[in-house]
Amino acid sequence: MAKAKQPEGEIYYPSQQIIEQARLKDWDALAKFASKNLEEFWAKEASELDWYKPWDKVLDDSNKPFYKWFTGAQVNIVHNALDRHQQTYRKNKLALVWVGEDNSVRTYSYYALNREVSQFANVLRAMGLKKGDRVTIYMPRIPEIVIAMLACAKIGAIHSVVYGGFSVDSLQGRIDDSQSRMVITADGGFMNGKIVELKKTVDEALKRCPSVETVVMVQRTKHQVRMEPGRDYYYHELIKLPIANGKCATEIMDSEDPLYILYTSGTTGKPKAILHTHGGYMVGVYSTLKYVFDLNDTDRWWCAADPGWVTGHSYIVYGPLIMGATSFMYEGAPTYPYPDRWWALIEKYGITVFYTAPTAIRGLMRFGELWPRKHDLSSLRLLGSVGEPINPEAWKWYHRVIGNEKCPIMDTWWQTETGMFMITPTPVVPLKPGSGTRPFFGQEAEIVDEAGKPVPDGEEGYLVLNRPWPAMLRTVYNDPERYVQQYWSKYPGKYTTGDSAKRDKDGYFWIIGRVDDVIKISGYRLGTAEIESALVSHPAVAEAAVIGIPHEVKGSVIYAYCLLRSGYQATPELPDELKQHVATHLGPIGKPEQVTFVDKLPKTRSGKIMRRVLKARALGLSEGDISTLEE
Ligand code: WT7
Repeated sequence: MAKAKQPEGEIYYPSQQIIEQARLKDWDALAKFASKNLEEFWAKEASELDWYKPWDKVLDDSNKPFYKWFTGAQVNIVHNALDRHQQTYRKNKLALVWVGEDNSVRTYSYYALNREVSQFANVLRAMGLKKGDRVTIYMPRIPEIVIAMLACAKIGAIHSVVYGGFSVDSLQGRIDDSQSRMVITADGGFMNGKIVELKKTVDEALKRCPSVETVVMVQRTKHQVRMEPGRDYYYHELIKLPIANGKCATEIMDSEDPLYILYTSGTTGKPKAILHTHGGYMVGVYSTLKYVFDLNDTDRWWCAADPGWVTGHSYIVYGPLIMGATSFMYEGAPTYPYPDRWWALIEKYGITVFYTAPTAIRGLMRFGELWPRKHDLSSLRLLGSVGEPINPEAWKWYHRVIGNEKCPIMDTWWQTETGMFMITPTPVVPLKPGSGTRPFFGQEAEIVDEAGKPVPDGEEGYLVLNRPWPAMLRTVYNDPERYVQQYWSKYPGKYTTGDSAKRDKDGYFWIIGRVDDVIKISGYRLGTAEIESALVSHPAVAEAAVIGIPHEVKGSVIYAYCLLRSGYQATPELPDELKQHVATHLGPIGKPEQVTFVDKLPKTRSGKIMRRVLKARALGLSEGDISTLEE
């Protein structure tokens, strides 16, 4: 395991004003209550939302680890995100303020968003989609991605959003695995002043996806794209059809009915589809957003992630709408046309709570303080961080320069699988830069050794979660065995996170990083297996091994070691060709920083690649115990 950073001594206390404003003033009391009364705590949270029919049981753990929440209840997350607000003052409140990279602006009230979601949901039903059908969404950061997700959920279809930065192969694999009947996409999106060609990628992918019957395409960039007659439809034409009126009955779902699947990288093989459900997920994202970011009617919330990741699902789309909050969304790159684009947007739109990733903070930090200093950021009252450990230096810069030393930073640790924040402060909790503080209400995190025994405070070990939580993944779609194997088999009764961490004497958790074969590159999650299989799909490569190497801005970057097939030469151009090859297969995130050709890869006698040894060599460190290394 990596050498752990020492927890820092510095503590940042919340100001009196923060404490007075906070919805929840006594963290300890609620934590104590929830830990003793798990089901009662969650029942209380759930009762703040609308249900068509109440639950019989809060938590059904009769078939572990296939936990069920709010069983017997009927609900639809969209009813809570949109329908119920139509009967209140929120009908006229802004739900979404959107700015394009090209400076176009669009706003939606809760009324308008509900109308357009209903219109599109009517279209989906008219096209024959029904409860349980899968729909792949591959779109830029524009309002229609939110509308498409909500329209699917409204009729009970299962959405599978694929991040717009993924390539043909990744998209094709995900469409095929989910057996989607429809793909919703756009002609393109604007990023760094250029058009991202989404529709072209869809066309390529669909050459090998027989399950797809229809494609709905939003015109965003309005450049020329091919439309296949009988398969492809324009979104703007469909929602003008008479069938697409603004009234649409929301499908009544069982609490445990699937809401969405989202693919994420694991230790082995292909990315797996994480399944989330209507009832429990709804309660989990609502409760965490309420306590952690404490949104009120005066707030303007900006989660700068992409809706294509779980952060966007939970905290751009579902959470804020369930809260009845006003969300801000920006299409493009933070540095386009200048490195103050985000700061300018915060000033112009009066953002009060801002949530982003350490890699973005570190990236923007490099441009210096003058860029943020050009703007009045005094509207901000809370900041957030997610995706990887935030180094204290970046934390302090974020706190001082962006938050003007008055905004607590909510460093939220969670995963695609957890659906909601799991280790996180609330605004009233004293902060230590680099620590996510303590588990969320009702949760019990633990640091254990290989055998599952708790390690003493201050020592590094595997991070596990001991209690079920409502937004937990229910299974790996179509692969329940993998669900059990991956998350619940290492330590019986405990959820394995794949991360290593430490707990300090104050009970604060310090995440160190992944201990499995998952690499986080700029906060994006990729498996070594995926990158390696992309490399060996190149004719020159016989065998490949990749590792993550620490990087100042990106957190880690990929180093690849390749063994060439006989007859191939390590030409000076080949590394670049291989980098490009991986980028084409996986998308630009997967592109290795460095490709090295080797004669031999370090392996155990049983043939397993010892990535640890490669990493030690790359970093010039001791190779450690290499007794299992083959001769
Ligand atoms: C992995 C999950 C959940 C939103 C985005 C990532 C790392 C996430 C933190 C944090 C330290 C973090 C972990 C985790 N991670 N948040 N605040 N501090 N590490 O979701 O792609 O499923 O990745 O991201 O390693 O296991 P994901």
